[in-house]
Parts: sequence; structure tokens; C-alpha cells
Amino acid sequence: MNLDIMIQTYRQIFQRNPEIETRAPGRVNLIGEHTDYNDGFVLPVDIDRAIWIYASGRNDTLVRAHSLDYGQTTSFDTDRVERDDNAVWSNYIRGVIAEYRKRGDRIRGMDLLVSGNVPIGSGLSSSAALEVATAETCRVLSGLTIDPVALALLSQSAERQFVGVQCGIMDQFVSTLGRESAALFLDCRDLSYQWVPLPTEACIVICDSRKQRSLQTSEYNERRAECEGAVAVLNQALGNIRALRDVTLEQLEDNKHLMPEMRYRRARHVVTENQRVLSAVQALQDGDLPQFGRLMYDSHASLRDDYEVSCRELDILVEVAAPLPGTLGARMTGAGFGGCTVNLVACDAVEDFQAGVIEKYQAKTDLRPLVYVSRPANGVTHRRLQ
Ligand code: GLA
Repeated sequence: MNLDIMIQTYRQIFQRNPEIETRAPGRVNLIGEHTDYNDGFVLPVDIDRAIWIYASGRNDTLVRAHSLDYGQTTSFDTDRVERDDNAVWSNYIRGVIAEYRKRGDRIRGMDLLVSGNVPIGSGLSSSAALEVATAETCRVLSGLTIDPVALALLSQSAERQFVGVQCGIMDQFVSTLGRESAALFLDCRDLSYQWVPLPTEACIVICDSRKQRSLQTSEYNERRAECEGAVAVLNQALGNIRALRDVTLEQLEDNKHLMPEMRYRRARHVVTENQRVLSAVQALQDGDLPQFGRLMYDSHASLRDDYEVSCRELDILVEVAAPLPGTLGARMTGAGFGGCTVNLVACDAVEDFQAGVIEKYQAKTDLRPLVYVSRPANGVTHRRLQ
């Protein structure tokens, strides 16, 4: 990202200087997929790609927002925020402001310039990054009191209410609270969290399948509903079951006859994935990277076979990565249906890994993947420019 160019562009568009720069990162999830909305565990890490917002406050309630990536400007009043289907990217900004207004906060007008290098639609949470960057920008420019956890929750509500994806809390939480050189181990029930240091000898490598995600919103919301269906049945049978988090594998097996086979498999993914996150955190703490890697492969298989959110391209990426020297583990990451895999690779083997994955994946799909190392980054930050 060329931040100087952003500042120059800001001056050209708004005829003034930006007061602050806000940066919120995208994320990659190491393990714990589709567990967050089941009150479960996740282990994401912020990536060194982000959304930047340059901003100045105004003395009225007008928001003017320009997206460099979409080459589009939109404006609205902070007291009457509505969805804009002609500038869909702006709904993340609008949603956050609408959520602040619901809390009773007064939001000043602002001139915003938005850009980023988190690839859009590839499962690395560019949307959460935009929400969190907006929430932080509003907090600073309107002088609001809101703690980081509440800021993450507000950003999540924006996505659910304004964009319509019934997402969990993982993405917004880590974009707010992530830390350099650590993964964030989060309990999505009570939002207690802990930073788990990452090893220096293994690198996080992202492989972007270049397969655009499709049907994501509808399939995502459907999976969520299936989990809720399983909870209703299990609660009736066992009592005290609020979420799949409360179910053991044994209890699920004993009661599988109460639900359709597919629903049972959805629930089995969630129950076993929660267990894998706990084991993965233990493996990291023990420095047992081969064990961590095995859990990543198991997670992928479960997402592919039980939860059915993988796709041919992601399966091939995992398949071609696994036998390469230095690969410790690989799995799809994020909601699925396209997007990226996350790989744990011995740092001294990364170059060969890149070449190997590109060649083998291309031979099988005719798509050229993007393969890059991502250094764990900090959560949202801002700095004053004047
Ligand atoms: C998306 C959602 C998250 C989470 C993942 C799947 O990224 O935004 O809340 O559910 O999918 O783990």
C-alpha cells in the first residue's frame, strides 16, 4: 500500500488534509472453523494486509466516503443511515454508523478515503477489517467511549444487521484485538481470550485458490440454521444444551438417530472442531508443530466431508501442499466455498513450497494461485496526522 498516494488523493478529493489514519487488518484462521456461532473456540491470527481509512471530522452530520478500490464516492447523513445497493462496499461503513446511532452515540460527519490490500471475497475478512476500521475512525473522531470488545461486537452487529450475513464474532474480534507474533485463542461464548505465541521456525503461508466464493451468504446462513436445528433436538433429549459447544461427541453419537444424517454430520464437525482447537492450542504451547499440523489436516477433512463447505479447488490446494517438504499442515480457512487455504510451513522450505504449489495446482485446475507468507500483525491502530 502506498500511503503517501492515499494522502495526496485525499487532498485532491476532499480539498483538505486528513486528520487521522486508521488501519485494521484482515485475518487468517489457523483452526476452529464454523465454531464461533456455536459458542465454540477459534484460533485466528491477523495478517499483514489491511484496510486503511484516512479521515477528517466535519461540523455537520454528512459522511462523504470514497473507495479507491471501487473508484466510487457515496454520501449520507449520520442521522438517517440507509443501505446503498449501488455502493455495496459502503454498507459496511453505513452499518457501523447505524449501530453507533442505536447505542445513542452522536456521530460527527466525516470525509473518508478507504483503500486496502486484503483481497476482497477470498475469505481473509476484508469486510470485518472495513467495519473495524470504520468503528475505530468514528470512535476517535467523535470522541466516543467504547472498549475494544464492545467495538468488535458493534462491528459484528453491523455485518449481521446491515449486510445480512449471520456471522460469528471471530473476524471482528481478531481484527480489533489481535497481536503481532501471536494467535488469538478466543472462547466465543464468554469472549475470554488469550494470545498464544507463534513459533518462529514455522511460517504461515496463505494459498489463494483464485476461486471466487459463491453462494456464500445463503450457504453460510443455512449451516447456521442446521446447527440450531441440531441444538433444539439435543436440548430436548438431554436438557441444558444451549449451543453445540455444550455437546460431547459421545452424547451426539448416542442421539444421532434423532436427526437426519446430514444434520448429524454438521453437528459432528462442530463438536470435533472445538476439540481440535483445544488440542491445537496445547500443541502450540508444547512446541509440537507436527501435532498442530495433523489437526489442521483433520479440520480440513471435517469441513470437506461433514460440514461440506470446501470445494474442489481448496481440496486440491491442500492435497498438493501436503507432500511438499517442510509442510506441517494445511486446511481451508474462513467460511469456505472458495477463497484460501492456510498452511504451516517450515520457514526454510517456503520458497520450494511456493513453487511446488503453484506448479501442481495450476496443472490440475488451470488457475494460478497466489501463494504468500503472512507475518502475524497487530489489531486495529490509528495515528493522528496533524
Ligand atoms: C466467516 C464468519 C466468521 C466465521 C467463519 C467460519 O468468516 O464471518 O464469523 O463463522 O466464517 O469459521
